[in-house]
Amino acid sequence: MADGNITKDVMYEAVAPDDFEAMLELDRYGNRSTAFDKIISATHDHFWDPLDKKYIDFDEPFDMENEMLVPEDFVPAMSTDYVSNALSDHKTRVRFVNQSTLRTFSSILHGEQGALNLSASLCHVLKDQGAQEYAANQTREEARHVTAFAKYIKVRWGRPVECGPTLKALLVDIIGSPEVYKKIVGMQMLVEGLAMGAFATFFNNINDPLGKKLLQLVMTDEAFHHKFGKIWADRTIPHLSPEEHVIIEDWAASCFQNLLFNLVGPMQQKDLYEEFGLDPAKVVEEYGKIMTDEKRREGMKEQTNIFRVLIKTLLNAGIITDRTRAFYAMYVDMDELKGEGDGMVGDAIAEDGIRYLQEINFKDRAARPVLIAAE
Ligand SMILES: [Fe+2]
Ligand SMILES: [Fe+2]
Repeated sequence: MADGNITKDVMYEAVAPDDFEAMLELDRYGNRSTAFDKIISATHDHFWDPLDKKYIDFDEPFDMENEMLVPEDFVPAMSTDYVSNALSDHKTRVRFVNQSTLRTFSSILHGEQGALNLSASLCHVLKDQGAQEYAANQTREEARHVTAFAKYIKVRWGRPVECGPTLKALLVDIIGSPEVYKKIVGMQMLVEGLAMGAFATFFNNINDPLGKKLLQLVMTDEAFHHKFGKIWADRTIPHLSPEEHVIIEDWAASCFQNLLFNLVGPMQQKDLYEEFGLDPAKVVEEYGKIMTDEKRREGMKEQTNIFRVLIKTLLNAGIITDRTRAFYAMYVDMDELKGEGDGMVGDAIAEDGIRYLQEINFKDRAARPVLIAAE
């Protein structure tokens, strides 16, 4: 069947966003898919509340004036002679690194708001009650992420910065789009995959214990969201017609490119450079000189490298074919990636986090095994 949603499994059947009447069909109530039950019931194990100090305490201080939140080499511009020489004073360097980190956390906050609205929009289009319950549950979890990141930004910097135009355009597109495949590939597979990769990288490098705890708690939820995308792909990709495969493969590549640009597009930080009296055009020029293709690939080899996670997600899902393989091969060694199996970066951090939450949530109950199950 060739509908705009590219539905291959009845549990992803969808209606137009404004067609509530379709939800009142009597037969629908008797047909609830069980595919998401494990993810839905696991939510109790990893429950947390950003407003409850039992889980996380946003009053924990950090010396923003003298300490860098992340190591200097997290801010690529710092590795150019131009920026490094201009910002010679230690406190200025600290401020630059921490202001650059604000850009990252602001992107995360806007991404979380996007995830909240996206999962709410899935409730309106997906017809299956199990899929709807999953989406409602994710909406609730994304809402606590928005609360938590907004609080973190408030205590460390006071206020977030604007959403970058490429990320904003992607979020607006997938939230407003009636097509289920666009929503799931764009958000569940790519933005969620990007989040898992970015959170794992930051978790391993952030110097602020509060930020570290926050990232881990969020990851206990995100690991499951990413699995929702995997279930969809397992049930959809093998059944696509060649024409449908082209549509999905191209959509994935365009989302990937947008996310890549949002994260590393040098002009995305223009206002930061100006704030520190730097010439943005010169930063970009210098950055281009040191950022050779070889260096970029070298960085991608790191297991937790953010885009590596994304490419692996698309590759394991069977979305990437020879048509777009060369595009991704600019960033990673595709054969090496294929041989890695499908364990996801960040799952181990999330599992530790769930154990921590189980101890708080079920103090009086015997420990239960932790499993981030897809189905
Ligand atoms: Fe989230
Ligand atoms: Fe999420």
